[in-house]
Amino acid sequence: MALIDEIKKRKTFGIVSHPDAGKTTLTEKLLLFGGAIQTAGAVKSNKIKKHATSDFMDIERQRGISVATSVMAFEYAGKKINILDTPGHKDFAEDTFRTLTAVDSVIVVIDVAKGVETQTEKLVEVCRMRKTPIMVFINKMDREGKDGFDLLDELETKLGLTVTPQSWPVGMGQRFQGVYSLYEKKLKLFSAHGKQNEEDTIVIDDLNTDILDEKIGKAAADELREETHTINEVYPDLDVDAYLRGDLSPVFFGSAVNNFGVKELLDCFVHIAPNPLPRQTEERIIEPIEDKFSGFVFKIHANIDPKHRDRIAFLRICSGTFERNTNYQHVRLERKIKFSNPTSFMAEKKSVVEEAFPGDIVGLYDSGNFKIGDALTEGEKLHFVGIPSFSPEQFRYIDNANPLKSKQLNKGIIQLMDEGVAQLFVKEDTSRKIIGTVGALQFDVIQYRLEHEYGASCSYEPINIHKAAWVHCDDSAVLKDFTSRRKNNLAKDKDGKLVFLADSAWILKTVQENHPEVQFFFTSEF
Ligand code: G4P
Repeated sequence: MALIDEIKKRKTFGIVSHPDAGKTTLTEKLLLFGGAIQTAGAVKSNKIKKHATSDFMDIERQRGISVATSVMAFEYAGKKINILDTPGHKDFAEDTFRTLTAVDSVIVVIDVAKGVETQTEKLVEVCRMRKTPIMVFINKMDREGKDGFDLLDELETKLGLTVTPQSWPVGMGQRFQGVYSLYEKKLKLFSAHGKQNEEDTIVIDDLNTDILDEKIGKAAADELREETHTINEVYPDLDVDAYLRGDLSPVFFGSAVNNFGVKELLDCFVHIAPNPLPRQTEERIIEPIEDKFSGFVFKIHANIDPKHRDRIAFLRICSGTFERNTNYQHVRLERKIKFSNPTSFMAEKKSVVEEAFPGDIVGLYDSGNFKIGDALTEGEKLHFVGIPSFSPEQFRYIDNANPLKSKQLNKGIIQLMDEGVAQLFVKEDTSRKIIGTVGALQFDVIQYRLEHEYGASCSYEPINIHKAAWVHCDDSAVLKDFTSRRKNNLAKDKDGKLVFLADSAWILKTVQENHPEVQFFFTSEF
């Protein structure tokens, strides 16, 4: 098949949700439609249960699951669909942000009872910044929840989305009778556990028909007529270009666990979701159709077998064709590497791939050559942008607790940082190491993994840091003056970039005011 046909065949997306909204359940139903799995329950939830947030074995078990669920591919309606898993747990938010750099669109899952939750707000903000096309699935309609219009309001006010409902619920909870698909002009009657049959789908072009009253009762029918009238008055029609620009989000209602409303979502997705999109590099924009291969690493996963310290680097193909056993340029290391066992993931199955195309994700076995953001090309020096580190929220000094194992400790810390587990800062004045993370859980993960994978032990010491800000100043004399005055608060990140560690919001503000020529950034990419 020609490259253009391979590209047109592919759709790569991620599901974003607050934990428990139904991401795993929806993923599973999608895979069932694609025939990638045969039975329900085959997709293991990768969430870390609330009661066990610092149980190391739980974390280890989850790591195993999350390798298997990192990418799940399936075919549907002649398309190859790649779902990228995004951890819902807030302590792994940075992992999710990075995964979102490798998708071309997202589906946001909202729990009808809970509405828009904080974790979703943050993730959608990142998608909006990048203009990622977004569809919304309002889940758990078989339960009592918020009013449909109130939810649409929340999507607009809390997530900043402009929405266009494409299906509309008839009742909810006990009174849930189904949805009217505005997209297909069909009434879909609800029955639990995915037991719909063909008679449950009725084509209704004009809602004034008596058939509607017969099927759902007069009261519900009148309510639906009134509500769809309001929808037509208030909300824009589905404009596919606006969706593709990230300016309009189609909204669907359903119940993932009952496999209800999922097919409607999937059918619309296959129809309108974008094919692999161009990617920005520091040098130029990369078009998928370019014949030369390029790709970047957005995620690194340590292998779960501690005896082999191999890792899997997940590569998003951006252009051209990736081929097995072919030499590619590792841009940062300035050397050629080839891969004898590039792996693709189909639900639970892993297999070696001979070739892969834009939009695909391949797993590359790696013995420590990759860092997040690394580029592979056929020779061109490209640096993909949009994979920043964010200012961590928690900081601790990390010290060596076993002097005989300092080499192991240093190696372990570097490798874990390359994986993106946390960020390392080295103080300018004392050379002490500081670990910065998004959540407290990572400190336990690091300690546990250093011990079990590297035979090293570390201890932590509290440090009072409110925020890390990357600093930049074009005037070297001003920068020199700033660094000499603020030495106690300065550190270098893993790439040697200068970072200001502010003790408090007040100090940060004062320092910014006192040094107006110095710029402060809260992500590493600016
Ligand atoms: P997550 O990946 O977003 O964290 O959510 P997940 O799919 O694991 O779903 C969270 C819980 O919500 C699960 O129940 C799941 O069965 C339930 N759920 C998903 N979709 C629906 C729906 O449409 N209606 C209703 N009523 N429930 C739904 P659980 O009790 O946590 O787990 P389980 O024991 O049922 O697997």
